[in-house]
Amino acid sequence: MAISQQVFLRDAMRRLNLTRDVFAARIGVKRRALDTWLLPEGSQEARAMPEVVARFVTEIVENSALMEKYAQSAQSGPLRDRIAAGGKHQLLSVDQFTRESVEELFRVADLMQPIARRRKVSRVLEGAVLGNLFFEASTRTRVSFGAAFCRLGGSVCDTTGFTFSSMAKGESIYDTSRVMGGYVDAMVIRHPEKGSVAEFAAATNIPVVNGGDGAGEHPSQALLDLYTILTEFSRLGKLLDGAHIVMAGDLKYGRTVHSLIKLLALYRGMKFTLVSPPGLEMPEYLLEQASRNGHVIEQTHDLATGLKGADVVYATRVQKERFAGENLEGYTADFQINRAIVDACCGPDTIVMHPLPRDSREGANDLSTDLNTDPRLAIFRQTDNGIPVRMAIFAVLMGVEGLVQHSLRDVTWAPPSHIGPDDSVFHGLD
Ligand code: NCD
Repeated sequence: MAISQQVFLRDAMRRLNLTRDVFAARIGVKRRALDTWLLPEGSQEARAMPEVVARFVTEIVENSALMEKYAQSAQSGPLRDRIAAGGKHQLLSVDQFTRESVEELFRVADLMQPIARRRKVSRVLEGAVLGNLFFEASTRTRVSFGAAFCRLGGSVCDTTGFTFSSMAKGESIYDTSRVMGGYVDAMVIRHPEKGSVAEFAAATNIPVVNGGDGAGEHPSQALLDLYTILTEFSRLGKLLDGAHIVMAGDLKYGRTVHSLIKLLALYRGMKFTLVSPPGLEMPEYLLEQASRNGHVIEQTHDLATGLKGADVVYATRVQKERFAGENLEGYTADFQINRAIVDACCGPDTIVMHPLPRDSREGANDLSTDLNTDPRLAIFRQTDNGIPVRMAIFAVLMGVEGLVQHSLRDVTWAPPSHIGPDDSVFHGLD
């Protein structure tokens, strides 16, 4: 670095307009460590800041300059207007994003990290109520949307399944949506039919988020997946442009990969290898959409061939609940992503992802648990990222993202430094 570390850090804090405490939290280090990096060179207590921190600080400063540029540009207007669907502040499909707007959303997610990592609290959504309407099985999507809303100071009302909802009495989507709109300030909806969440959204003017519509889309999952890939690549010093992404499993009915391939196609020069058992290939319209802009797409039924040279391996569960006559003949025991195949086909910098849940029962052929202690397995870093990304989605749709930074207060409790016993060293909360 041409300038001294001390000047570099002071300049970054000034540009970001952050105190030492907030700056330390923002870059994910202890205040004590930051203090030692800020001491004049040659002083006994002074320490050199790790290279990865310097890179991260540069990135934050650049992004904040970008955010400022967006904010100043009268033409661009608030992010929620630029990603609006049908003139409404809703998130129904990743088609609403450009590369610029998705990265802008991620800068908001970065702002949420001190809250998601339980160092800070905020109440920018105090008084707001979220309606979480899940007409299909869910654990992490429903709870993480709820937790994200609560961590911004809002509260949550839930309904799960058809049995206990008035839809079991024949109520239309229109009526349900209009009624709920009178009770809550935003809705997240998961429904087994493709296109149904858009129907809900058409019947209300409050923000609606698609939490998964059948085999259609799962935009918030794809956003947190992309955020995870970018975060992991930044740690590994890799660029997403030109990366080799392998998607494996049920690509026909897996909605997470439907949304993710569209988002990744916003980048340049990608190579996609799509590995599925026969009959469960990625739908044609998505292949066409992704092959625009010169991306390379290869398809295979053979896992070992497909995994070679992957930067990211994204495994998915077989969506048996959506099968319409397909059988599982091609889904043999050698279709499992496990330590042996990852060691044989992938490098030390490959990351292994999965939207979860994975089927861990005997003979299920899903992502194996034998990778649990392998740092390449990013599945829990991925689920953890669900919170800041979903907080960012709410903050943007409700127009409060500009209030977050100055609303932060210290938490009163002390979380464990690592949430999971197998978490990698770089994955701690501290
Ligand atoms: C996925 C879903 O529901 O589409 N899960 C999730 O939301 N993380 C994937 C799946 O169910 O296999």
